[in-house]
Amino acid sequence: MTTTLRERIADELLRARSRTTALAEAVDEADLVKQHSPIMSPLVWDFAHVGNQEELWLVRDVGGREPVRRDIDELYDAFQNPRHERPQLPLLNPTEARGYLRTVREKVLDLLERVPLAGRRLVDEGFAFGMIVQHEQQHDETMLATHQLRVGEPVLTAPPPPPAAVEVAGEVVVPGGRFTMGTSTEPWALDNERPAHQVELAPFAIDAAPVSNGQYAQFIADGGYDDPRWWSESGWAHRQRAGLVAPMHWVPDGDGWAYTRFGVTSPVAPDEPVVHVCFHEAQAYARWAGRRLPTEAEWEKAARFDPATGRSRRYPWGDVDPTPAHANLGQRHLRPAPVGAYPAGASPLGVHQLIGDVWEWVDTDFTGYPGFSPFPYREYSEVFFGSDYKVLRGGSFGTDPAACRGTFRNWDYPIRRQVFSGFRCARTLDPAERAALG
Ligand SMILES: [Fe+2]
Repeated sequence: MTTTLRERIADELLRARSRTTALAEAVDEADLVKQHSPIMSPLVWDFAHVGNQEELWLVRDVGGREPVRRDIDELYDAFQNPRHERPQLPLLNPTEARGYLRTVREKVLDLLERVPLAGRRLVDEGFAFGMIVQHEQQHDETMLATHQLRVGEPVLTAPPPPPAAVEVAGEVVVPGGRFTMGTSTEPWALDNERPAHQVELAPFAIDAAPVSNGQYAQFIADGGYDDPRWWSESGWAHRQRAGLVAPMHWVPDGDGWAYTRFGVTSPVAPDEPVVHVCFHEAQAYARWAGRRLPTEAEWEKAARFDPATGRSRRYPWGDVDPTPAHANLGQRHLRPAPVGAYPAGASPLGVHQLIGDVWEWVDTDFTGYPGFSPFPYREYSEVFFGSDYKVLRGGSFGTDPAACRGTFRNWDYPIRRQVFSGFRCARTLDPAERAALG
């Protein structure tokens, strides 16, 4: 029996909600309403905000139904309320929030049976439902990041990721020429991933795997945090101001480093991709290593370009949706997998772990592609365009497959490291290498 679009939407809504619920119910009421970091919302804000967005877009707009709680719209408007102010708002308490989410969801499942899924761009191929599924999953990753910032007894557990299956090291040469970046066909792709467009790139080399903790520890041991040569001017100023000495959550441990993850401290695993570094740290490491960060276009070409056909794939491994064999996604394992753990997920050129494990900083400001048009509202992406934000690509262990594609774009301030963020390096080929490529 084939799954209909409506069944798939219902499944995705349910899957997102079970994760949201698990993340919220893992802590007690006091922890739910508490702010664990000034850059994060109280978990109970994320929780009710997810329901409010679902109400705004699906109950009111798509369904044309009466508001459930028009009076709370302002409280859960992310633009009107900076994160540090959210704990002071008269938010729904956890019990009220649970009830609100239930009511909204009942209405959505009812209207999902009735509304046409064609004839209007907002509902074509279920777009608005897909947008809301992705929104909830994105907040689930944010809630997971809040869990990582929370201090207290560990409350989250998950089985470890698979061990390394192959040795992955060194760099891969990506041929020059045009490739298709972005998408015009992926039904649930967001406005900033659109439209598909041709990009011409010179050949370049990119790391076959994300930079590991072991590699990053060498940068620290070599005095990388104390040498302004490796840092940009703004990066060095931030490093000084913030007193950075190692990735977030790293603590000295004898001769080495330990790392606290979801309340459990253990020695840093050398073969795992480094995580919780900001853009400036990634850029400094790359310079120290005699390399640079890839541009966003380079990252996407390395991830999607199939040299045999010349076309761009949905994912590095092909066009099929991610399975547990392809990538470490979906909070299945609450840590990055070691380098070499996902040979089935490699790109045709042999670049590994582009999807899942850690978000990867790229050296590109967040802007619209040529032909960009805001949809369904300017506040989704367009208001963030400009030089304030750097792009992150590929998703992390905390990202759900529904909110992760070869074209998916994330963005944050270059000083942020509460994200599950790592990176890989790239390199411009010298003339002799380019000549050798023909
Ligand atoms: Fe949101």
